[in-house]
Amino acid sequence: MNMKNLARRFGAALGVVTLLALAPLAQAQQINPTAESVNADVLLEALQDDQMISGRISIPDQRASGLIKPDNKSWRNKHTGLVRTLSIAAVVGAVVILGLFYMIRGRIMIDGKMSGIRILRFSAFERFAHWLMAGSFIVLALTGLNLVLGRIIILPWLGEGAFSTITAWGKVSHNYVGWAFMVGLILSFIVWVSHNIPDKVDAKWIAQGGGIFKKGVHPPAKKFNAGQKVIFWSVMLGGTALSVSGYMLLFPIIAGTEADWQFIQVVHGIVAAGLSFIIIAHIYIGSVGMEGAIDAMAKGDVDLNWAKEHHSLWVEEMQADSGKKDAPPKAAHPAE
Ligand code: HEM
Repeated sequence: MNMKNLARRFGAALGVVTLLALAPLAQAQQINPTAESVNADVLLEALQDDQMISGRISIPDQRASGLIKPDNKSWRNKHTGLVRTLSIAAVVGAVVILGLFYMIRGRIMIDGKMSGIRILRFSAFERFAHWLMAGSFIVLALTGLNLVLGRIIILPWLGEGAFSTITAWGKVSHNYVGWAFMVGLILSFIVWVSHNIPDKVDAKWIAQGGGIFKKGVHPPAKKFNAGQKVIFWSVMLGGTALSVSGYMLLFPIIAGTEADWQFIQVVHGIVAAGLSFIIIAHIYIGSVGMEGAIDAMAKGDVDLNWAKEHHSLWVEEMQADSGKKDAPPKAAHPAE
């Protein structure tokens, strides 16, 4: 065989190999996505960033027809990164700060002794509104955190089967419990808004750091002190933002364009992380952080001396109501 022949045969063999190698690409270009059986990998490979695979739907919102869109995947990775970082910072940050506060300041105790006289702080209806809002918020926060952090924290620990079961149930709960939260939020607003209007007393309370950092310091306060007013308004504004954005995420047709929907999802995640930080601090101070505080929400009444130390002006208002300056306030009764 002369050199010319050899070169011709080699060229032909190279051509066959090249054709074989390019065959899948050619196949990808001619993919028929509605064919009975489609190789998903080949189909995905063939998609450009701005293309998508869509199906046929009969509901008005045509965006719901999109099945696979590479653009959304890269967007999701970016969004998950931001919301994940903020969520971890909120939870870990709150726990570290409160842990340090507890080590330095310890539990805030009642300076005087318990008086043995109990006074009504919150009616049954006020407590119902609080626990409806609080209980639903906790469910929403945990199921929401699972959506953001579950894959990296719970999945490796529980395995795919258990993780997908709890995540599917968690998502359903998240969608429905949101309504209970909205009702609790509205009721709490109605019962407490009049006690949460900022006034002069708040400036003095803030100037003395609320007496939180020093033993024996008790700046005067009405039914709610300045710190509680901050919590109240954070819950009302943050809760409203979460409710409105959550409603739009449930019904994307009212959210606007796809980009608007994606923006709302990021806002929802960021507000949820911020409010969780504040609520972790609230739960700490309302339970283990301060002696006697939990009684107000658990039983409805508190010790008179606790009330005099933390809400002296409120006790005076109640005493004025009952007529005599030194009489125990209305709705007071000896402890059983
Ligand atoms: C286990 C969880 C919780 C505990 C132990 C708890 C405890 C308390 C207590 C003891 C009070 C009354 C304080 C007082 O007498 O002055 C209170 C008030 C309040 N709570 Fe909670 N709470 C919890 C969860 C929540 C959640 C999740 C929210 C909101 C989403 C919330 C929102 C409020 C608001 C707005 C007030 C009135 C203002 C204030 O005291 O800061 N609470 N809570």
